[in-house]
Amino acid sequence: MKNVILTGDRPTGRLHVGHYVGSLKRRVELQNSGEFDDIYIMIADAQALTDNADNPEKIRQNIIEVALDYLSVGLDPEKTALFVQSQVTELCELSFYYMNLVTVSRLQRNPTVKAEIQMRDFQASIPVGFFTYPISQAADITAFKATAVPVGEDQLPMLEQTREIVRKFNDIYGETLIEPQVLLPGNQACLRLPGTDGKAKMSKSLGNCIYLADTEEEVQKKVMGMFTDPNHLRVEDPGKVEGNPVFTYLDAFCRDEQFAEFCPDYSCLAEMKEHYAKGGLGDVKVKKFLNNVLQSELAPIRGKRKQFEKDIPAVYDILKQGTKKAQETAAQTLHEVREAMKMNYFEDEALIQQHAKKYNNQ
Ligand code: TRP
Repeated sequence: MKNVILTGDRPTGRLHVGHYVGSLKRRVELQNSGEFDDIYIMIADAQALTDNADNPEKIRQNIIEVALDYLSVGLDPEKTALFVQSQVTELCELSFYYMNLVTVSRLQRNPTVKAEIQMRDFQASIPVGFFTYPISQAADITAFKATAVPVGEDQLPMLEQTREIVRKFNDIYGETLIEPQVLLPGNQACLRLPGTDGKAKMSKSLGNCIYLADTEEEVQKKVMGMFTDPNHLRVEDPGKVEGNPVFTYLDAFCRDEQFAEFCPDYSCLAEMKEHYAKGGLGDVKVKKFLNNVLQSELAPIRGKRKQFEKDIPAVYDILKQGTKKAQETAAQTLHEVREAMKMNYFEDEALIQQHAKKYNNQ
């Protein structure tokens, strides 16, 4: 069996450092590990429309932004098919068949969908397409026979739903689809990076994100303005490390070797945390260190983005080529699905003969 990765993002805005530590960095490592036969990364524009039906322009404008973010972090179109979901129409047909295998009450129990419904204040006006997006996500994953899906923890319910659909499909129609495994980020701090304001999640509408495409000055300004421990008023005061986003970001980004370069008073993060907790270490010093750490990670990404920005038609061409490859794979799976579901009427000579016999007593 092939080792195949499929994952993706909704193009509702530029990608931020939360996406980077939560998934993008890992994708690049997986891409370069040589352990995978095929890698597909999808810009999920059709899924983005499930709660942005009135604003297709937003989606249209952000496809290129996400593509540039992908390329700038090191996803390589030679190794990874970068594609646009809506252009692979086979995914819709798969979703349509999978809908028969999922109950309404099962969809209602999906904790991520529940949380999103609350967040968007949909209540009684939930679009059907939005409500059923876990099914379309199962189509995305199974169309490519993905064995591994690297995503953040908020996507766990989608993977569970996919696995249920695969088991049910194979059970009814015979072994056809592959059950995917989820690949969560290794570092605990990366499971969910908080916003710069200390809120649980980075979100564009809250204005608490550091974007991969931010300039050096923008990053510095955001880091120096970050929320910390509100009770840590004077340098001498003991400070809280737990739940302090500055330290969560350091957990996610810093390597102990970076202390020698940027903050030689400490040899490792544990030592810095200890001093902060005891009292005597000011927020500004910690933030300056975090800024240096972030800048060293983001500078090469920014540089690469600038290069790709110079030839936008070439980036569209990368998406077009990736989409072509994705479409061919999805068409193959769809063919197998129709066959398993006995919907290959015109190709099935035995069926035609059986009916001929039935009516002609031959
Ligand atoms: N739901 C994902 C997100 O919100 C995007 C997505 C769509 C996806 N289809 C997928 C992720 C399939 C992994 C696998 O970002």
